Amino acid sequence: MPETVQEKKKVIFSAIQPSGTITLGNYLGALRNWVKLQDDYNCIFAVADLHAITVRQDPKSFRQNILNAYALFLACGIDPEKSPFFIQSHVHTHAELAWILNCYTQFGELSRMTQFKDKSQKHADNVNAGLFTYPSLMAADILLYQADVVPVGVDQKQHLELTRNIAERFNGIYGNTFKIPEPYISQVGAKIMSLQDPAKKMSKSDENSNSWVAILDKPDVIMKKFKRAVTDSEAVVKVGEGKDGINNLIGIMSAVTGKTADEIAIEFEGKGYGDFKTAVGEAVVEEVRPIQERFNDYINNKDYLVEQYHKSAEFALKLSQRTLSKVMKKIGYVIP
Ligand code: TRP
Repeated sequence: MPETVQEKKKVIFSAIQPSGTITLGNYLGALRNWVKLQDDYNCIFAVADLHAITVRQDPKSFRQNILNAYALFLACGIDPEKSPFFIQSHVHTHAELAWILNCYTQFGELSRMTQFKDKSQKHADNVNAGLFTYPSLMAADILLYQADVVPVGVDQKQHLELTRNIAERFNGIYGNTFKIPEPYISQVGAKIMSLQDPAKKMSKSDENSNSWVAILDKPDVIMKKFKRAVTDSEAVVKVGEGKDGINNLIGIMSAVTGKTADEIAIEFEGKGYGDFKTAVGEAVVEEVRPIQERFNDYINNKDYLVEQYHKSAEFALKLSQRTLSKVMKKIGYVIP
């Protein structure tokens, strides 16, 4: 398995929930950067399926969503030979350390998590204990691998901050046990906004499906969504104040083609928004086309997927067991 993990590169850990839809925003804002990080860091990635049941899941679509997320990540360029990429529930140390960390996390701290407050309002009929202790499981994910850095979006920054506090607290009681992880702030990560309300982040939970583009959307659907994108009445393809819609489209075009906003403005000088929207749609279709092709190959090759997630889980189990044993010894457990 990955030789590279033995070297002195820094360790990155990150995970995503198997939500069913990976949007262009997820891809350009996060996923594509993970792919690039694989050479410079020892990356360890997971599909966070334990986290996912804090909200109710339909068993059939849940199983499919986990596999789809796995295949899509491979299709985007995550290489499990380089970066172990496993399914969280396959590695039992996560649930075990999460229980332990729960006992070193305060009720008050968890009560202050904004995601808990938001989600318990949204799912008022199912405010379960898992939703409340979700951040301790996330802390376990990260601390098990002694991660140096964790790429997270703004919505997860508070959880990472809590992870650091839990680790420092544990180290304070028992001596140095956990590496204190730093957030990874990407220099290139584009923030992709809704196509219908560009003041909001692109999100697949938005009821208006025209506001987001999924990586697996068909080309004609992608084109339609871009053609309907909200713009302004100025009709000049140039970054400007009060032009959130166009700024967002320029941002997407720039992220996909590598051209700067200025180069794009020059290229589309004198052209209308209609032409520009079509061009952005086409550029996105070209970007996702090879990903979609690879996704179809992977999802139809179950044996390959199974082989990859098995190997990665085995590797992750060994590595994480070192940390878990250390933790259990320090607490005073009788080692079996
Ligand atoms: N909670 C994260 C999210 O919903 C996913 C996640 C689980 C994660 N464990 C993690 C992210 C560890 C970073 C590190 O997006």
